[in-house]
Amino acid sequence: MALRNIVKDGDEVLTKKCRNVVKFDKKLHTLLDDMAETMHRANGVGLAAPQVGILRRVVVIDISPDQDEVLELVNPRIIAYSGEQEGNEGCLSFPGQWGIVKRPDYVKVRAQDRFGEEFEMEGTALLARAFCHEIDHLNGVVFKEVAERMLTPKEIEEMNAK
Ligand code: CO
Repeated sequence: MALRNIVKDGDEVLTKKCRNVVKFDKKLHTLLDDMAETMHRANGVGLAAPQVGILRRVVVIDISPDQDEVLELVNPRIIAYSGEQEGNEGCLSFPGQWGIVKRPDYVKVRAQDRFGEEFEMEGTALLARAFCHEIDHLNGVVFKEVAERMLTPKEIEEMNAK
């Protein structure tokens, strides 16, 4: 495994729509492994392939406290959602920036695993938020564009003090 460079705010790769994965090969497995390592090292809960400069529909998420339960989603799509939550959201590509973002409180996704096998997964609360945030990345959409507003430096200070 290897760390990949995380693309930052202003890089146009973050605005591009990603293409479907069609080959479930060694190259994909290496990408998934590298993305998980990169996400963990950066203390993130999710990372999408365009954030490491790859325009393919690949996402990793890990909301576990010990960062040892990586979810791998290839070609994910939202097939059902309900409810609403409003909360603070950040992104590894926008260090130090936070926004208030409304998301559904329940999201069901259909995706493929690293071998191409289809599966469905449901999430609420933070997991539902992560599904939405990461799938947005695959469509070239970043959280700043969908935020109600961005947090002020003072609000970020207060959030970090908690
Ligand atoms: Co992000």
